Amino acid sequence: MKVEPPRYLVLEEKLREGIQQGRWQPGERLPSIRALCQGHSLAKITVQHALQRLEAQGLVEARERSGFFVSMAPNRFESPTHPVTLEAPQPVSVSQVFQDIMSRSAAFDLLPGSDKNDVPAGIVQLNRSISRALRRQRGDFQYYDEPAGDPSLRQQIALRAAKRGWQAEIDELCITSGCQQSLFLALMAVCQQGDVVAVEAPGFYGVLQLLEQLGLQVVEIPASAETGLDVGAFEQTLQRWDIKACVVSPSFATPTGASMPLHARAHLIELAERHDLAIIEDDIYGESGWLVVPDTLKAVDHSNRVIHCSSLSKVLSRDLRLGWISGGRWHDDIVRLKLTSQLASSRFIQRGVADFFADGGYAAYLRRYRQQLQRQRDQLLDLLGTWSVPIRATSPAGGLALWLELPEHVDTIKLYNRALDEGVVITPGELFSMSGKFSNCLRLSFAHPWTRARAEALMRLPSLMA
Ligand SMILES: Cc1ncc(COP(=O)(O)O)c(C=O)c1O
Repeated sequence: MKVEPPRYLVLEEKLREGIQQGRWQPGERLPSIRALCQGHSLAKITVQHALQRLEAQGLVEARERSGFFVSMAPNRFESPTHPVTLEAPQPVSVSQVFQDIMSRSAAFDLLPGSDKNDVPAGIVQLNRSISRALRRQRGDFQYYDEPAGDPSLRQQIALRAAKRGWQAEIDELCITSGCQQSLFLALMAVCQQGDVVAVEAPGFYGVLQLLEQLGLQVVEIPASAETGLDVGAFEQTLQRWDIKACVVSPSFATPTGASMPLHARAHLIELAERHDLAIIEDDIYGESGWLVVPDTLKAVDHSNRVIHCSSLSKVLSRDLRLGWISGGRWHDDIVRLKLTSQLASSRFIQRGVADFFADGGYAAYLRRYRQQLQRQRDQLLDLLGTWSVPIRATSPAGGLALWLELPEHVDTIKLYNRALDEGVVITPGELFSMSGKFSNCLRLSFAHPWTRARAEALMRLPSLMA
């Protein structure tokens, strides 16, 4: 008996063909969801599914309240491959050499950095807000803030969450000293020593460090460079092993910049409910998207199983050390853990940032910053287009970095050491997994303004790959 392909795949294929054959040009709007439903006799959810898949492949872009448009610059590189084999859980042991690389890369990612001294107007305004808050405090530094953090800042964070499909109450939010602390508190609240935690591979190395520190085991779930965590593979893993939590970055994951389509998010939540898991959402890059700012996982979390972790480090300032956590059903424990480990957060920093949000400074700053990131991503892709070595690369629409796959013989740890001798810091792929699978991959940052020194450093890299 012939098995018919799912209807969303048939529509996806038709739309892809139309785009490739030039029926719709880059920048042009695709027919509306309603027109596609009527024209193809399909349900809305089927059409949305097809469009989200095309979006995840970078072929189309969703624009708020306007519909779907053909991407202006379809990714000129093929997408990096990703291993799909399932691994057994294992203890985490992060070697010293990784620690060394992490301490450099986490701080700089790529040297030479920017040589521009001009401070963005938004940051000047932020500084003023913080100075004003400091003056208002009038030397009153003898009190701790309440453990969950300043209510005015939590209120501002809740207002931004509402724009991303999540009606957060301020009692559901707790201020932290950054997303790394949020992730730490989340793991502490949910797991006991020896428990197994699922992570994306490739995924954020800071989580591996936390798992090691807490004596937890890791099971790596394959993640696509475009659509993020492979939820099908996760489901298979859950059938084999007892897993306590899954740490995931649904929007602009590091190192790839991948974003999970809606149906994958809904599937993940459904698995969490079925297998009694905690989902720890790392949303640190969520607001960086310049085409769309995806909803948070909290938007589809109907059973309070998502622990949302984020901070201002990637979009505003790493130095504020200001993050937050919303712990779902574990929230009270998390606030207690914050109290035990940190007592409180700085009041004037929180109030200064809350004012910056309330005055509209943050929104205005973010609009400009997103455009800047898009430009810097394009400049980086243009430069990679001049390399003579064949590469595969992602072209994310958010985040601060892209993921490169180099020819198989290239060992990016060796490349890292050679580049370091020349004053260039890169982030080798092996950092993003315990499996050693990404030894020919590299994360390249576009977080910094483009300079001649950066361009020259990047142009030198292929000659160091031999
Ligand atoms: C994905 C991800 N999560 C969390 C963090 C930690 O962020 P924070 O500076 O807010 O502690 C980082 C920093 O590199 C990151 O890339």
